[in-house]
Amino acid sequence: MTKAMQNRLRSTRRRLAIFGAGGHGRELAWLAELVGWKRSDLCFVVDKPAYRVKHVNGLAVCLLDDAIALGEEAGYVVALGDALARERSVILCERAGLTPVSLIHPGIELSPSVNIGQGSVICAGTILTTNIHIGRHVHINIGCTISHDAEVAEFATLSPGVHIAGHVSVGRRAFIGIGAVIINGSENERLVIGDDAVIAAGACVTCSVEAGAMVAGVPAVSKR
Ligand SMILES: CC(C)(COP(=O)(O)OP(=O)(O)OC[C@H]1O[C@@H](n2cnc3c(N)ncnc32)[C@H](O)[C@@H]1OP(=O)(O)O)[C@@H](O)C(=O)NCCC(=O)NCCS
Repeated sequence: MTKAMQNRLRSTRRRLAIFGAGGHGRELAWLAELVGWKRSDLCFVVDKPAYRVKHVNGLAVCLLDDAIALGEEAGYVVALGDALARERSVILCERAGLTPVSLIHPGIELSPSVNIGQGSVICAGTILTTNIHIGRHVHINIGCTISHDAEVAEFATLSPGVHIAGHVSVGRRAFIGIGAVIINGSENERLVIGDDAVIAAGACVTCSVEAGAMVAGVPAVSKR
């Protein structure tokens, strides 16, 4: 990258680097504009030259090494559905000196007792009721609902149309497939989806799921 390009990138404008230029990246670029980012302040970032193309949907794609030139003024959000890849990419972005930005659709419903960690993404049509904790870099896709006293740990992913009832804990990097339903736990016994668990699309989870397990079906049963 030339000095002139670096100086241009180091301008006082705040910029947002979207890590990942695939389908989810394009969706997050759209969301970023909806929450008020100027199109001219957005770019995609990839970590391997093989993923680099000139433009995606009219936005520039640059290498992470080049994004370092964006400096501390630049924010980042990781647009990767795979939790492990997202976690690794967060480490790369932090090392590059970028700061995490959350993208929360302006039309979602949530009470004041909901807290949301840095770098998390919450898409259109989602409702979060009361006393809910969402960790860092969680992705909640379109049309999800989360009820009272639920916790979603860092790097977890909720696909479109997931419904989580009250007193449920979702573990780190857990993946919940499209249209899955998790029934409620209780004050005395939470329903726990373990770290790295995978819940298949359309599943109805009626009891706790062990860390690393994969469950599917209605009611959901273990597949591995
Ligand atoms: C759960 C999932 C990840 C499993 O994928 P996989 O590891 O490739 O597993 P397989 O396709 O080999 O299936 C393993 C078993 O689970 C069953 N299974 C997989 N997905 C299922 C589902 N959604 N409902 C019911 N059973 C399912 C398979 O029939 C197979 O059963 P068997 O061993 O009795 O034959 C995948 O099927 C899935 O549901 N992905 C969610 C996709 C999604 O929501 N994407 C959102 C993008 S925004």
